[in-house]
Amino acid sequence: MTTPPTSPTVTIVTGASRGIGKAIANTLAAAGHHLLLVARDAEALAATATPLRSAGHTVATFAADLRDPAAIEAVVTHAERQLGPITAVVNNAGTAPSDKVENTTTAMVQETFALHVAAPLAFARLCTPAMKKRGHGALLHLASTAGLRGYPFTSAYTAAKHGMVGLSRALHAELSTAGVRVYALCPGFVDSDITRGAAAAIAARGKTTAAEAHARMGKQNRIGRMHTPDEVAAAAAFLLRTLPTGCVYELDREPAAFVDTPA
Ligand SMILES: NC(=O)c1ccc[n+]([C@@H]2O[C@H](COP(=O)([O-])OP(=O)(O)OC[C@H]3O[C@@H](n4cnc5c(N)ncnc54)[C@H](OP(=O)(O)O)[C@@H]3O)[C@@H](O)[C@H]2O)c1
Repeated sequence: MTTPPTSPTVTIVTGASRGIGKAIANTLAAAGHHLLLVARDAEALAATATPLRSAGHTVATFAADLRDPAAIEAVVTHAERQLGPITAVVNNAGTAPSDKVENTTTAMVQETFALHVAAPLAFARLCTPAMKKRGHGALLHLASTAGLRGYPFTSAYTAAKHGMVGLSRALHAELSTAGVRVYALCPGFVDSDITRGAAAAIAARGKTTAAEAHARMGKQNRIGRMHTPDEVAAAAAFLLRTLPTGCVYELDREPAAFVDTPA
């Protein structure tokens, strides 16, 4: 009989080079996790990892495009070799294409489903057999309120995030009795490159400024403003730290709460 640790120690964080993933890396390093950070841009990953290593934290990096299943196998192998058995995976890497449905291409749909559904499923396939044997482990999926309700001009992204939430529910149903906790963490709009890029695109159409567009997005959140990446990271660390099993946790509420009651 294994005793679950109160906190996973070896954690893969995808999309850790900026935004929410970088904030999660900083927060989990401070909480004592040994980290493997993943994104495509090796230099940007190094910019996240170097200050953490200087502060004495154990942090490895691996540049990979997570749309490629072979790259995901390489990430897992690298993490195990560098850091030991994997106790948690934070599936955060993502892109958020936005356009009218008539401009939404098959390539946009394939990219969003590859990153938000197929990559987390591949990590689960590769990592959960060992987690089940040990009797503990955690998968945290950076989903979105777009996984819980519909937003206009984001049909590929909203469909993929609903897929991510559905994947989390299925994995939770399958794995929770084996001690593997699965979470879908659902923030509303977050102040990051994704929302700043969307605001700039709206401003380019000439009807408003990027600042106004950005503020209007924040007001669409139930909490009436943008979340910060640090708030999302604090929620991720809270979920990984606590023992109740998943599954769907909505940040855009006062107070933030589980949508699905933990089993
Ligand atoms: N911002 C929001 O309003 C918001 C709200 C709810 C949920 N989310 C979700 O939160 C997650 C992070 O979003 P963010 O706002 O922090 O975005 P961001 O600032 O644009 O960061 C995205 C991260 O994902 C990595 N990435 C993108 N494509 C990748 C690929 N093919 N392979 C590997 N890594 C890849 C990026 O690094 P490289 O470009 O170097 O690969 C970067 O590190 C996403 O899943 C997003 O859907 C965001």
